[in-house]
Amino acid sequence: MSMIVCENVVKIYKADELEVFALQGLDLTIEKGEIMAIIGSSGSGKSTLLNLLGGLERPSAGSLLVDGKNLLRMTKKELTMYKRLTVGFVWQNQAKNLIPYLTAQQNVEVPMLLKGRAQSHKAKELLNMVGLGHRLNNRLDQLSGGEQQRVAIAIALANDPPLLLADEPTGSVDTKTGDQLLNVFREINKKLNTTIVIVTHDTQLTKKVDRVVSIRDGKTSTEMFRIQPEEIEDQMKQGEPTEDETHKEYTVIDQAGRLQIPEGLLHILNLQDNTKNLVQIEEENGQIVIKPQQSKKNA
Ligand SMILES: Nc1ncnc2c1ncn2[C@@H]1O[C@H](COP(=O)(O)OP(=O)(O)OP(=O)(O)O)[C@@H](O)[C@H]1O
Ligand SMILES: [Mg+2]
Repeated sequence: MSMIVCENVVKIYKADELEVFALQGLDLTIEKGEIMAIIGSSGSGKSTLLNLLGGLERPSAGSLLVDGKNLLRMTKKELTMYKRLTVGFVWQNQAKNLIPYLTAQQNVEVPMLLKGRAQSHKAKELLNMVGLGHRLNNRLDQLSGGEQQRVAIAIALANDPPLLLADEPTGSVDTKTGDQLLNVFREINKKLNTTIVIVTHDTQLTKKVDRVVSIRDGKTSTEMFRIQPEEIEDQMKQGEPTEDETHKEYTVIDQAGRLQIPEGLLHILNLQDNTKNLVQIEEENGQIVIKPQQSKKNA
């Protein structure tokens, strides 16, 4: 069973009289134990997707299963339990959700209280795992931004969620700190087998995960997979030049056969002008070729 199965997920926000289609039929499957990144330009729907996965918002249509649970059919009570036990969430400026006058350890114990009682040995263990074993008794306002993010990660793990969601967790720290935070996520993924989904703008960070999915206009547009060392070896054996790329990019074709043409290639088809949006799709030697419409005379 997969950890996340999104099929044709639609999210519509109604603001005043206006409707915003934040997700427009998004398909995405994430396996248990995966650690992956989601990228996309501003407004493409990344946070919307994470909020749906985290149970903070309800999908408008489609099918959304997380850990076998159907997020469209949950009762309010089931949703509360889901948020408490199935998912952990880390945001960009998490510090504002933490309690500044409590110590790092006390902050991690707070969500445990919701489940039953504080378990100080467990809070210590989690803080050790995120590399803060030496800061257990420091008040939160005595910690750096990167250290506070580590506390936030420990808090998100307090109730052993099988799924950890992070929305731009390195958005407000420097590159080096961001890199260290990614290592913390990888460590957690390896040690606890937690499935981890990270939304990020940081290309340094995406280079270090095996799978990167890009979202464009509310749909999954492309998927990038890390090039394995064997592939590079093969390339070198065949005398092919090895490029400086870390990932191979593939375009997603949805269940209805739709795909998004990469933005960088659209100009080849000369389709910028809305009145010229027709192409011919033909099969040629086992490949599909997309050709711009021949311009008509006098047109
Ligand atoms: N609560 C809301 N009410 C109305 N519209 C919303 C709401 N939340 C998001 N939107 C709209 O939905 C679209 C997707 O927004 P979303 O926040 O998911 O983008 P994003 O990819 O996370 O962008 P960014 O990289 O800037 O964080 C945008 O057009 C946004 O304006
Ligand atoms: Mg966002």
